[in-house]
Amino acid sequence: MTEALGAFPPTEPPDQEAIFRRIAEALTRDGYALVPDAIDLNLLQALRARIEHLGADDFVPAGIGRAQEQMKNEFVRRDEIHWLERSDPTEAQWLAWVDALRDYLNRRLFLGLFSYEAHFAHYAPGAFYKRHVDAFRGEANRILSTVLYLNDGWQHADGGQLVLYPENGLEPLAKVDPVMGTLAVFLSEEFPHEVLPAARHRFSIAGWCRVNTSTADRVDPPR
Ligand code: OGA
Ligand code: MN
Repeated sequence: MTEALGAFPPTEPPDQEAIFRRIAEALTRDGYALVPDAIDLNLLQALRARIEHLGADDFVPAGIGRAQEQMKNEFVRRDEIHWLERSDPTEAQWLAWVDALRDYLNRRLFLGLFSYEAHFAHYAPGAFYKRHVDAFRGEANRILSTVLYLNDGWQHADGGQLVLYPENGLEPLAKVDPVMGTLAVFLSEEFPHEVLPAARHRFSIAGWCRVNTSTADRVDPPR
């Protein structure tokens, strides 16, 4: 691209625009994007401080599937979660970041992403999430998964990697260390994935962009 005098400045900060562009290009090419240093350090630290502020009592064992608390299954997943709300200013900042990404992807890729839901997740040492998909084909619900990692000084030897698999394969496509500021984005229906057990406490924000499945007599419920 050539710089023209008098060109309009970009409407978004250039680094964020560049991150969004990288995600869009990787999604188009591969169906997933793994982006280190995706997020401003101030926001990362605020999110991490928010987790410390919340404390253990605010996290509940995660269920399997939407709104199915009774189907908690400790053989499948052992993480504990706290849903983000716009009423908290820090949580709202992350939701706003994804809103901007969602708008960008809708304009570039015509994905029709309608809403976003996200939770903090805490994996205590030894906790895991076995291979699963975040959405099932035809249920047109969760379209795009995001995971932002919030762990300072994470070493590969600490474990806790996100392992992404091809739709019908056992050979991993990628293993992602849950390092502070790394963002993983992938098509929810296409990529089975798992979280390996870690030696340390592991914190992240997992979230899903959804299409609108409301009908006249049923308002699409979040979560
Ligand atoms: C999930 C999930 C991955 C991770 O919450 O559905 O797959 O790396 N999380 O935390
Ligand atoms: Mn998942």
